[in-house]
Amino acid sequence: MNPSEKFGFDNTLELAAEWSMVSGAVFPHGKHTAWLDCNDCHPHLFNIKRKFTEGFRMTSNLDGEYCGVCHTGVAFPMTDCKRCHPAMRSPPVYQEPVPR
Ligand code: HEC
Ligand code: HEC
Ligand code: HEC
Repeated sequence: MNPSEKFGFDNTLELAAEWSMVSGAVFPHGKHTAWLDCNDCHPHLFNIKRKFTEGFRMTSNLDGEYCGVCHTGVAFPMTDCKRCHPAMRSPPVYQEPVPR
């Protein structure tokens, strides 16, 4: 059984951008734990403490690391900026990274 069912783990994290002019990203745990187990992401992809994952940056996402491990081929793509950055206006156009 997925522990999220047991604990009802459904918190949505707001992950602040490291650039001052950019709106942050949202990470809804519940949407992910419906598909995935905790150990698909913890501890090897993400630290369990918010904003503590070393090297976690948008550029790494676009390189197919962190969020980009799945949001390149399996889940909706990195180019769909607004689904992770709901407050972002007229996002720039990027090339889709090659899935690993
Ligand atoms: C799809 C990937 C993914 C899955 C699956 C996942 N998490 Fe997370 N979790 C994250 C990310 C990303 C962060 C934020 C890490 C950071 O900012 O460095 C996080 C942070 C956390 C935190 C810290 C929250 C806070 O408010 O500071 C806890 C606790 C946590 N996860 C528990 C769990 C548990 C329990 C499960 C399984 C039910 C789970 N996670 C499944 C990606 C995931
Ligand atoms: C282990 C695989 C995996 C990782 C890593 C991952 N996701 Fe996801 N994510 C998914 C899947 C699967 C879905 C559901 C299918 C879809 O919507 O494409 C999803 C859906 C979402 C949604 C849509 C929720 C909705 O309302 O429809 C958001 C937002 C999201 N992810 C953000 C993130 C962010 C931010 C990160 C990095 C902190 C991340 N994800 C890392 C697999 C992953
Ligand atoms: C799958 C989710 C996801 C998608 C899609 C996404 N981002 Fe991000 N983005 C994040 C997360 C999470 C962070 C915060 C990372 C951190 O902790 O620094 C972030 C941070 C940023 C930052 C700030 C720099 C930084 O490293 O903090 C910029 C700029 C950015 N994103 C631009 C974009 C643009 C432009 C797009 C569309 C081409 C996009 N993002 C699509 C999740 C996503």
